Amino acid sequence: MKSRLNKKNLFLTRIVSSSGCAAKLAPTLLNKSLCGLRIKGNPNLLVGLEKPDDAGVYKLSDSIAIIQTLDFFPPIVDDPYVFGQIAAVNALSDIYAMGGKPLTAMNIVGFPSDKLPLTVLQQILKGGLKKIHQAGAVLVGGHTINDVELKYGLTVTGIIHPKNVCTNATARIGDKLILTKPIGTGVLVTALKKGMVSQKDIMPAINSMLMLNKKASEIMQQFGVNACTDITGFGLIGHIVLMTDNSNVSVGLSHKSIRYFPNAIKLSRSGCSPAGTRNNLEFYAPFTKIKSNIPKEAVNLLHDPQTSGGLLMAVTKTKAPILLNKLRVAGIKDAHIIGEVIKRWTNKIIVH
Ligand code: CO
Ligand code: CO
Ligand code: CO
Repeated sequence: MKSRLNKKNLFLTRIVSSSGCAAKLAPTLLNKSLCGLRIKGNPNLLVGLEKPDDAGVYKLSDSIAIIQTLDFFPPIVDDPYVFGQIAAVNALSDIYAMGGKPLTAMNIVGFPSDKLPLTVLQQILKGGLKKIHQAGAVLVGGHTINDVELKYGLTVTGIIHPKNVCTNATARIGDKLILTKPIGTGVLVTALKKGMVSQKDIMPAINSMLMLNKKASEIMQQFGVNACTDITGFGLIGHIVLMTDNSNVSVGLSHKSIRYFPNAIKLSRSGCSPAGTRNNLEFYAPFTKIKSNIPKEAVNLLHDPQTSGGLLMAVTKTKAPILLNKLRVAGIKDAHIIGEVIKRWTNKIIVH
C-alpha cells in the first residue's frame, strides 16, 4: 500500500475496477431499476425521464429554464490533474448537448483516504476547477465521502431559453447526423489500465476528452439544428438508439465515415475491449441491423463506451455542409457526417 504514495508508482487507473464512463451500470440493469417507478410529472418539466435525454430541463419562466445534470466516475487516466479536467468536461457536456450555458457546478467525490495521499485529491479538484472556469461557470460547493474506490465528477446547472432547448427527441427524416469527436476512448483507456499503452500513446484521445463541447454547442445554437445529444457511456449506437426512440425515426449509419482515434481499431482487433462494450452490445443488438461484412473490431467500437465524447447533431440536409464547415473552421476538425435520419423501421439503426 505504502508504495502507492510514491508518485512514480501511482497508477490511478489500476487501483479501480473500471475506468471513466465504462463504469456506468449496464443499460439492462438501469432499465430494470427504473421500471415501475411512478415519477410525478409537472407542466414546467420540459425534459424528464419520460423521454430520457442528456439532462433534465425545468421551466422557471417564459424566458428561462434550468438544465440539471450530474456525472461522476473512477479515474480514466493516471494523472490526477488530467483526470479532474476530463471528469469536469464530461459532466459539463450534457449542458452543452441541450444547447445551454453552464452557470454553477458542485464537486462529487469518493476518496479512499487510507490508500491515496491528499495531494491526489487536490490535483483532481484543481483540474476540475480549471474546466469549470473555462466553461464560464462557478464552483459553488461539493460533497466528499470516504470511499473504497476513487470517484470524481460534478453536478452542473445551466440555463436556456425554453424555446431553444435542443433535445434528442426532434430529429427529422432526411436530417444528416454530424459527430464532432472521434470514437474509441473506451478501448484506449482500457489498454492504458492494462498497461498495453502509455498515457503518451493515447494523447489524441486525451486531448479530445479535455476539449469542452462549448464551442460546438454555441455554433449549433446560432445555426439551428433539429436535435442533439452527446456520446458517452452507452456508446455511439446506444445514444443514437435513444434519439431514434424519442424522435420516432430510424438512422442509417455509414461505418466507413466514422472516425476513430489512432490505435483504437488495432487495439479493438487484438481483443481489447471494456466491459461496457459487451453490455452495450448485448442490450442494443436487438435494435440494430449491422451488415455482415463489417469487421468485428468496428462493430465493437460502435458500442465502445465514450468518456467526454462529441456532440451528435441532427441537422437538415441543406444546412449540414454549411454547419460542418463552420465547425471545422472553428477548430473542431474531426467533425464529420456519419449518417442520416430515415423513416421509422423495424431496426432502429442500420449500419452499412
Ligand atoms: Co449526455
Ligand atoms: Co451524462
Ligand atoms: Co440534448
